[in-house]
Amino acid sequence: MRTRIILLGSTGSIGNSALEVARRYPDRFEIVGLAACSNVEGLKRQCAEFRPRSAAIVDETLAPDVTARALEVEKVYRGSEGAQALVVEEEADIVLAAMVGAAGLSPVLAAIRSGKRVALANKEPLVSAGALIMSEARRMGVPVLPVDSEHSAIFQCIQGQQSEEIYQIHLTASGGPFYQRDRASMSGISPDEAANHPTWDMGRKISVDSATLMNKGLEIIEAMWLFDVALDKIGVVIHPQSIIHSMVEFTDGGILAHLGPTDMKFPIQYALTWPERVRAPMARLDLTTMPPLTFAKPDFSEFPCLRLAMDAAHRGGGAPAILNAANETAVEAFCEGRLPFLQISEVVEAALDQVESPHEVTFDTIMEADAAGRRFARTFIDQAGVRV
Ligand SMILES: NC(=O)c1ccc[n+]([C@@H]2O[C@H](COP(=O)([O-])OP(=O)(O)OC[C@H]3O[C@@H](n4cnc5c(N)ncnc54)[C@H](OP(=O)(O)O)[C@@H]3O)[C@@H](O)[C@H]2O)c1
Repeated sequence: MRTRIILLGSTGSIGNSALEVARRYPDRFEIVGLAACSNVEGLKRQCAEFRPRSAAIVDETLAPDVTARALEVEKVYRGSEGAQALVVEEEADIVLAAMVGAAGLSPVLAAIRSGKRVALANKEPLVSAGALIMSEARRMGVPVLPVDSEHSAIFQCIQGQQSEEIYQIHLTASGGPFYQRDRASMSGISPDEAANHPTWDMGRKISVDSATLMNKGLEIIEAMWLFDVALDKIGVVIHPQSIIHSMVEFTDGGILAHLGPTDMKFPIQYALTWPERVRAPMARLDLTTMPPLTFAKPDFSEFPCLRLAMDAAHRGGGAPAILNAANETAVEAFCEGRLPFLQISEVVEAALDQVESPHEVTFDTIMEADAAGRRFARTFIDQAGVRV
């Protein structure tokens, strides 16, 4: 039996890498559903090649023109609930969540509640509603498999180990494109500069998050939930070569590290074939030619987003959802030229301080916290009246 995959966010960076993995192993993987937001042409091409049974297009404005016939599929789901409906209706073994943002929360929960394994690249839902997602996954007995390279690395390091034997998780960070720059020199940074990551080729939002180091902050929260470890057991170490994808230090002093090329197809393939390992015809690491591996402490004063994410994790409840919502809104404004780079953290900090956070984490409280965070951030950005 081939593994039947529903791929959400198929037209993005992770989505395309996942399809490259699927293309390589036609005997092992079957794509049964594809979902995109607005890239209709890309989705059409993918449907023509992979012949899924169903597809979803989320952008409401385009939806009326996207027919099952046009996509050459049996069924097409449209609109904001489209990805979720696809996940519930279509039979599949695994849902690879590769869309961007907290909008992935409903489809991810729907996948878990319909008993489908989840391979999770889309970290924002876990940041916003980690307690809910993981408790639902436990209730349903559904594994949530990490795709983020750091979390895949940690997951691989802890196979066969007991969680109480974990002393510290060392999340590695490249430092992003502005590593070792002082804050004052970052004032006029453009979206293109911010998205130009030194070691990874990724979508726009995660690239900007990597430049502010918010991405690493989101990853700390992601690791807390995925591996059920306390915040004080997760540290960040700057490792500019991005060769070690993360490390786990155990109570006996031993540290296991995961090394690999900077190619997301490796962690995607592992999540899709887990618990098996399958031979990968990809460029491998040559240990004798790789650069020296260096490590440094992160600078919390130059990159306040990292501190803010840790603060939100400490506060708990709805605080991470507010942090995430404000950050998504601020990054979007920055990418549209409506907010200077350095003010992304200001928007997030003000939202965390001023938006009331619910203590209880339920779907409704998190949706409300998310909406309140976005409203606050939009008003803050408009009132600041900043033009870059
Ligand atoms: N890229 C990486 O290397 C990497 C590494 C680790 C983790 N991640 C995580 O993986 C996720 C995807 O990242 P990416 O870099 O692949 O992003 P991306 O290139 O921007 O792609 C995003 C994908 O999501 C779709 N999408 C956007 N909004 C949607 C919505 N509301 N509903 C359904 N689909 C929607 C997009 O469709 P359209 O193309 O139609 O707009 C596109 O297919 C993010 O959460 C990111 O943090 C990425």
